[in-house]
Amino acid sequence: MKKYFTLIVLVTTVFILSNCHTARKAMKEIPKLTFETNLKLVIAGNCTPCHIPAKGGNKKPFDNYENVKTNIDEMIRRIELAPAEKGFMPFKRAKLSDSTVAIFKQWRTDGLLEK
Ligand code: HEC
Repeated sequence: MKKYFTLIVLVTTVFILSNCHTARKAMKEIPKLTFETNLKLVIAGNCTPCHIPAKGGNKKPFDNYENVKTNIDEMIRRIELAPAEKGFMPFKRAKLSDSTVAIFKQWRTDGLLEK
């Protein structure tokens, strides 16, 4: 009887662990976007120099997590405008590609993670 019990516990444990493993693997395949890994360079590349103080920018700084997190709704609103519309960003430049805009939006959807 005791052997059976041990066996059942063992089988159950293996079953649970293997499912955990599958779940973890699935999550790994679609990692959440983070500011440090995914957004920082996109902003540095597209919103420079104006919003990057280190590049001489004197507009609201978007080189740090806190500011970007606070302003993300307005940033997305502006990059989704048409270039002729008031407030369009990046200022006097071409509209960002859909895939670049998607990075900003996905970062927000993923929960505004820092790293
Ligand atoms: C060539 C310079 C330039 C670039 C590049 C630029 N901006 Fe701007 N940005 C400005 C100026 C000038 C203002 C202030 C005028 C205004 O509010 O429209 C501004 C204001 C803003 C504001 C409002 C800030 C506030 O005070 O509330 C946001 C949000 C913004 N920009 C987002 C962006 C994003 C996102 C990018 C990159 C995709 C970008 N900008 C690229 C010049 C620039």
